[in-house]
Amino acid sequence: MAQLLQILDVNKTFKSGNSKVKACQEINLTIGEGEVVGLVGESGSGKSTLANLVLGLEKLDSGSIKFEGVELEKLLKDKSKSFRREVQAVFQHPLLSLDSRKTIAWSIAEPLVINKIGNSASRKARVLELLAAVALDEGTASKYPSQLSGGQLQRVNIARALALEPKLIICDEPVSALDVSVQAQIVNLFLDIQKRLGVAMLFISHDLAVVRHISDRIAVMYAGKIMEIGDTDDICESPIHPYTQALLSASTFTEESDEGREKLKLFRREEVPQKGCPFSTRCPHAIALCREEEIKIQSFASNQESSCLRAQEIFPNLAKK
Ligand SMILES: Nc1ncnc2c1ncn2[C@@H]1O[C@H](COP(=O)(O)OP(=O)(O)OP(=O)(O)O)[C@@H](O)[C@H]1O
Ligand SMILES: [Mg+2]
Repeated sequence: MAQLLQILDVNKTFKSGNSKVKACQEINLTIGEGEVVGLVGESGSGKSTLANLVLGLEKLDSGSIKFEGVELEKLLKDKSKSFRREVQAVFQHPLLSLDSRKTIAWSIAEPLVINKIGNSASRKARVLELLAAVALDEGTASKYPSQLSGGQLQRVNIARALALEPKLIICDEPVSALDVSVQAQIVNLFLDIQKRLGVAMLFISHDLAVVRHISDRIAVMYAGKIMEIGDTDDICESPIHPYTQALLSASTFTEESDEGREKLKLFRREEVPQKGCPFSTRCPHAIALCREEEIKIQSFASNQESSCLRAQEIFPNLAKK
């Protein structure tokens, strides 16, 4: 599988007043053509920051992001704007990306208009095609955002994202704001689209159960760092990192959920140690060394990568690559 997106040693720190937040630290992640990579981690772990760096909405401090082998910085300056067409996004709040005064047809056609693709008749036909692709009926075209449900609005956003036939869609918590009953329908729609069109996705969620359903591989983030990456089945059935294990046992957790917080004892930024493994203050396996030694991702024979210093002590049969 050819590599589509390469995120290499990426760092991003936010400064507010005297305090600094290391939102992304030494992040390495690749996405192959047509591959779905899930990015999971609790609130504040740096998922959206990483998504925004890939989309060029934030500037990285150091490291490099390449799309089809070309530096993002160069692609963003490119006048042909092909990167802007090839990488699309679907965000958490479906209403924010849509203009309340415009019809759904207008919103779906907008990317075509901006990129001067087709004429008014061909765009009209394309809008109907895209509505069908996201299982909305033709009548939706003339409606306004206020007339649609959250799930229908997110379908419109997906249609809009598909309009330019992207190679990669960055999905930042695309189902988190929806009713639980609707979430599965939208995840299934993403899955269906992925199978039909072969588009690659970075699918972000704080919920491992959601990511598990759609991803080929999963990356687990905690406090700005990648804790573990691997094939979905390996991550979900034989996780190496104690944090991934904790996520699995909590299965769903939110900032608002006392139960989830209690189960996982969610971190707050101020509780993240400045040195060593960020999870060391919560980890049942932590020893003094974990609080001192800088973590490094290690590759194991199972194709999993984990930053746990004690991986081979916890799992004596685990072989390094
Ligand atoms: N523009 C900004 N200025 C200052 N701090 C920021 C900014 N954006 C993000 N942060 C901080 O960076 C950290 C990572 O935030 P980010 O939004 O990437 O997390 P997240 O994993 O997407 O969380 P959530 O699940 O809540 O969306 C947080 O501590 C956040 O407060
Ligand atoms: Mg976020």
